[in-house]
Amino acid sequence: MSYVKIVGGKRLKGEVKLQGSKNAALPILAASVLCRGQIRIENCPDIADVHELLYALSFAGIKNELHDGRLDLDTSEAVPFSFGQEFAKKTRGGILLLGAFLGRFHEAEIAYPGGCVIGARPIDLHCSVLRALHVSLSEEKDGVYAKGRPQGDRILLSYPSVGATENAVLAAVCGKGRTELFGAATEPEVAELCRFLNKAGARIRGIGTSYLVIDGVSQLHGVHHRLSGDRIVAGTYLCAAAMTGGEVILRETDGVCLEGITNNLCAAGLRIQKENNLIAARANDRVLAVPCIRTAPFPAFPTDMQSQMVALLSVADGDSVICETVFESRFGIVPELQKMGADVINTDRYVIIHGVKHLQGRPVTATDLRGGAALVLAGLAAEGESKVCGYEYIARGYENICGSLCKLGAEIMLTEE
Ligand code: UD1
Repeated sequence: MSYVKIVGGKRLKGEVKLQGSKNAALPILAASVLCRGQIRIENCPDIADVHELLYALSFAGIKNELHDGRLDLDTSEAVPFSFGQEFAKKTRGGILLLGAFLGRFHEAEIAYPGGCVIGARPIDLHCSVLRALHVSLSEEKDGVYAKGRPQGDRILLSYPSVGATENAVLAAVCGKGRTELFGAATEPEVAELCRFLNKAGARIRGIGTSYLVIDGVSQLHGVHHRLSGDRIVAGTYLCAAAMTGGEVILRETDGVCLEGITNNLCAAGLRIQKENNLIAARANDRVLAVPCIRTAPFPAFPTDMQSQMVALLSVADGDSVICETVFESRFGIVPELQKMGADVINTDRYVIIHGVKHLQGRPVTATDLRGGAALVLAGLAAEGESKVCGYEYIARGYENICGSLCKLGAEIMLTEE
């Protein structure tokens, strides 16, 4: 078992390169199934979720080579494959193979997905958009089986689910005729998937809006794409600067969209400057409380930053409240922060935070990816030594978090037990 050992209280200062985006990488890996020809993805993050998906794709005959952030994929020998529990349980991103395999092979079979335990996470919206594309889809005890060439139609999403939007797009790009998607998710990662697909020959309009028009094409070709930086990892390192009274510069941040994140970090007293390919942040001595934050789909404050914000505001001067509207059980961090002396409580969908001056280093346990990163942040700000167990969650989305924070001057080490 690996855990993160942190001696807190060091002021972070320095520069670090921002990794590529996890939530753009996963749908783009799924999309590569649709492309015939050489696919090269640059700035690919070296994280467990990417490796899990690449491993799953290798069973469907898709070869890959990942070196120093450059990923080459060869789909020329791709075959239909039934993705059982051993693949689907490990990463939620696996559900996107449903749309991609339907698009290429007109059949797909996948076990119910796993991912972090942060809510019920049903897949009803994924199933309904695919049914609306006229494929026959049955939900069995162990998973979903879908068959037929997707056929365009007018589809209304009752909630702007990121994954369901991506599955609809993946299924529709090589489908018959025109698909109009109303109420689509507008997250930057959905837009990036669409841009990738258009580079490969797809015909998608309305990118970045909630109304997507997709004209089906017979097949997609090879493509070269550089992934954008990860906006959630950027937000996490900005929180680290804020919580340690530090000064941090993030490099290679071209195209990173921090909408919904920076306004709340600025309200907490962080001064943020974006210039060319850099994001620079300088903290106040003390974090300021932010009275009311509500997570919601883009462009609002992202649920993926909620835990880090709870950690940040737990050391603020004053009282803050965060309302989580996306994932109903994303509060695993609360009891752990309490062990570190934070005055935080969770009731229903709210976290109520009375900021304290100092947290105390303690052994704590991550139960999900972003919660794990947030506990690392708490450890950086705490007095004394912390041990964050559950590193495997953090490794799903953060590329060498200990190395990056070390570069910024943190006393942090990944330790094997
Ligand atoms: C994606 C992101 C995740 C982020 C989330 C919300 C990836 C790989 N993951 O997850 O990091 O936290 O968007 O921004 O991109 N829902 C249903 N039925 C469905 C699908 C979703 O009820 O069929 C619900 C979910 O339970 C949740 C809400 O809709 O309450 C949002 O989920 P969704 O936008 O689909 O998130 P994911 O695509 O799973």
